[in-house]
Amino acid sequence: MSAHPFALELTDVRKSFGKTEIIRGASLQVKPGERVAIIGPNGAGKSTLFNLISGRFGISTGDIRLNGASIAGRKPYEINRMGLARSFQVSNLFVRLSVFENIRCAVLWSMGYRYAFWKFLADLRDANDRADEVLRMIKLDKKRDVQAMNLTYAEQRALEIGITIAGGASVVLLDEPTAGMSKSETTRFIQLIREVTAGKTLLTVEHDMGVVFGLADKIAVLVYGEVIAFDVPEAVRANPKVQEAYLGSVLVAHEKAHGA
Ligand SMILES: Nc1ncnc2c1ncn2[C@@H]1O[C@H](COP(=O)(O)OP(=O)(O)OP(=O)(O)O)[C@@H](O)[C@H]1O
Ligand SMILES: [Mg+2]
Repeated sequence: MSAHPFALELTDVRKSFGKTEIIRGASLQVKPGERVAIIGPNGAGKSTLFNLISGRFGISTGDIRLNGASIAGRKPYEINRMGLARSFQVSNLFVRLSVFENIRCAVLWSMGYRYAFWKFLADLRDANDRADEVLRMIKLDKKRDVQAMNLTYAEQRALEIGITIAGGASVVLLDEPTAGMSKSETTRFIQLIREVTAGKTLLTVEHDMGVVFGLADKIAVLVYGEVIAFDVPEAVRANPKVQEAYLGSVLVAHEKAHGA
């Protein structure tokens, strides 16, 4: 874990597409090992924020720091090698490859193929070991040789988490990891996320309030590209600004459903 007080720090981050400013001065400080859920209405800019943090898009102004080092202007693979990995809202699997091969690709990629061929066999052994370790973590070791397209939906999402963490990143971004799952699948999946990201810094985008309150140490509320609240769940729940802007109706529905 880093000696720096923040694993991830966003300072007045702005992003425009053409004339439209989508992220409008977002600031966020996430401590090492913290689990943060980012919530907000559709189109608030949650995925865009992940695209900025992971380097897929460049920021217009502001700064983003990973373990104290600025990552503004860096390429996604550079940011990845600095210890940050993300999953996508839309599936990103090699469906014709086996479960094992999907993970091994991610491991090899994270190793950077940087060694000469004579060292490749030794690397491959390391990669195989690591891939099998990840398969056990995501509980797909029994599906090792199954093609990804023949997994259940929940298993495919688990495989995506495995691919995301395979390289050993310390900061992990998951964009709607439980989208499309049933209640019981979601409950099990949250437990899996907890296990495989233990000790890591986690940012998730999430719509399901049950998941948010079950998983997050802190909640960031993003509304029209601005972080209007960033605090522990109870404080966010009680924040009048949040209730007014967005959460009120959703929270009431959640509390009714759970008898809180
Ligand atoms: N590459 C792009 N070019 C132009 N506009 C974009 C681009 N990516 C996103 N946007 C716009 O930015 C806004 C925020 O989109 P984003 O996908 O970040 O929202 P979100 O909070 O993830 O929404 P959802 O909950 O539906 O996933 C939207 O109005 C979207 O149309
Ligand atoms: Mg999104």
